[in-house]
Amino acid sequence: MEKQEIRTFGRRHGKKLSLRQESLVRDVLPAIAPTESEQIDILEIGFGAGEHLRELTIANPTKTILGAEPFVNGVASLMSAITDSNNQILPEFQRIRVFPDDVRLILNSHKFNFAEIWILHPDPWPKARHEKRRLLNADFLNLLSKHLASNGKIIIGTDHWEYYDWILEQVKDTNLCEADSPHNIIKTRYQKKNMANTDAPKYIILTRP
Ligand SMILES: C[S@@+](CC[C@H](N)C(=O)[O-])C[C@H]1O[C@@H](n2cnc3c(N)ncnc32)[C@H](O)[C@@H]1O
Repeated sequence: MEKQEIRTFGRRHGKKLSLRQESLVRDVLPAIAPTESEQIDILEIGFGAGEHLRELTIANPTKTILGAEPFVNGVASLMSAITDSNNQILPEFQRIRVFPDDVRLILNSHKFNFAEIWILHPDPWPKARHEKRRLLNADFLNLLSKHLASNGKIIIGTDHWEYYDWILEQVKDTNLCEADSPHNIIKTRYQKKNMANTDAPKYIILTRP
């Protein structure tokens, strides 16, 4: 990161990893790191345990998909789900790449051209004193815009409606505009938890004019 960024995620570590998860993170994860020489089509930011990332991969069999997530236990859950008992990546998940850290680090050091960027249930940081920790501020949206293909889309879903309104205010200070294209959305773990206790998530789809 060029400047010291405010931390936007809660924990980096949860409960102790199993031996298998430890070996997957140590030995297999480095082999699926993104490289600049490879075209990556889709980015998912904050993939949690990776359910949606896996579904995206299956729904887009010709695309390469990058997931960024700093929570080690989430990364380990994904690694368990995409490998067989010999720690080999399953054929249907060969096109997954993982950046196990704050996505801003890689967006500030690499150049991408994503057709889609997904952010589902970003941490809402509901207390006023934590508002500065919200990831989807105007600076970050402008950073995403630099990595978006000319007809690309940013798809944001949240069940926290105050955060939803706040994001729309932030969009006004960016070069992005709202698009109205329907998307098939896969239910994520946080959507099922529905911690904000709202009826359904709301989605914001952004494009470059
Ligand atoms: C509330 S969880 C939602 C997880 C998942 N998308 C879902 O819907 O189940 C938000 C996730 O965003 C991740 N996150 C927060 N800030 C991030 C950042 N700067 N870069 C990448 N991931 C981030 C957190 O670690 C956390 O796993």
